[in-house]
Amino acid sequence: MIWLLGNRGQLGQDVEQLLVEKQEKFISSDIEVDKRDKERLKSFVNGKQVDWIVDCSAYTAVDRAEKEPDKAFGVNAHGTLNIAEIACDKALKLIYISTDYIFNGEKEGAYSEDDTPGPLGVYGKSKLEGEINIKNNVKEYYIIRTSWLYGHHGNNFVNTMLDLLNKKSEVKVVADQWGSPTWTKDLARVMVHIIESDNGEYGVYHYSGEGKTSWFYFTQEIYARARTHGIVKRDVKISPITTEEYPADARRPRNSYLSKDKIKTSFKIEVPRWQDSLEEFLAEIKEE
Ligand SMILES: NC(=O)c1ccc[n+]([C@@H]2O[C@H](COP(=O)([O-])OP(=O)(O)OC[C@H]3O[C@@H](n4cnc5c(N)ncnc54)[C@H](OP(=O)(O)O)[C@@H]3O)[C@@H](O)[C@H]2O)c1
Repeated sequence: MIWLLGNRGQLGQDVEQLLVEKQEKFISSDIEVDKRDKERLKSFVNGKQVDWIVDCSAYTAVDRAEKEPDKAFGVNAHGTLNIAEIACDKALKLIYISTDYIFNGEKEGAYSEDDTPGPLGVYGKSKLEGEINIKNNVKEYYIIRTSWLYGHHGNNFVNTMLDLLNKKSEVKVVADQWGSPTWTKDLARVMVHIIESDNGEYGVYHYSGEGKTSWFYFTQEIYARARTHGIVKRDVKISPITTEEYPADARRPRNSYLSKDKIKTSFKIEVPRWQDSLEEFLAEIKEE
């Protein structure tokens, strides 16, 4: 049986839906079983025949983390240590979702799993500490680093842009940060595939949509496709700006393009182009 943590987050909701569709046995929890409270976690799981933990829970407020590092580290580092220790005590397998923001973004080209981390902000540092706590405590783990998540549930870049494109005549978007958008449904499918195949090649993996873009080009693509679908019906000017012109509390990597070679080879998967996933996502929105 699977224990899904963070089932009310944007990724967790898609994972839960897929587990239901696949008739997998699972239990799920979110903030009511606080990761920071080990006794609460233990009393939730005790007596249940769990063999996998799938952890989609996290403190994800990248900018706010700069002002509340204790909370970010409390959840992402210490909370993850609690999960890791429970996985260790009960000999459970673990999938943990991590982030491209553990890199400093100075590399030209794609980041591989072996590249040295160097997080620029509190969020990235706290997630990296979460990774380390897993590596130090759990034998059978898959850490999946992903980037630029969007989906039907929750606040994310695509939903924010669709909202702005329906309200504003001009939208200014950062054009000098590069990475890969990732649809939560694609990632959820890969996570369930990993559980099903469980090939024993434990360790760190990268997964994101195929291809590389900037937030600016991503927005242009959202706009063009949303117009075609009739989700946006207005003329909107999309203007590129620099990171310096868009002040934010947290520094972000200039390049967080992740190589997917390892996950493709190990799990024999194909990774959809980010444009194709965006198209599917928008088509689903249109049907709603
Ligand atoms: N979003 C991205 O672009 C992105 C990019 C790369 C990696 N990731 C990683 O992907 C994973 C999923 O992200 P997401 O966007 O789905 O995040 P999300 O929507 O913020 O979901 C996280 C869930 O965890 C819950 N949570 C927070 N603190 C908790 C605690 N102490 N105990 C138990 N549950 C707690 C949250 O509840 P509340 O809402 O009540 O706080 C929320 O339901 C995370 O590990 C994140 O670091 C995200």
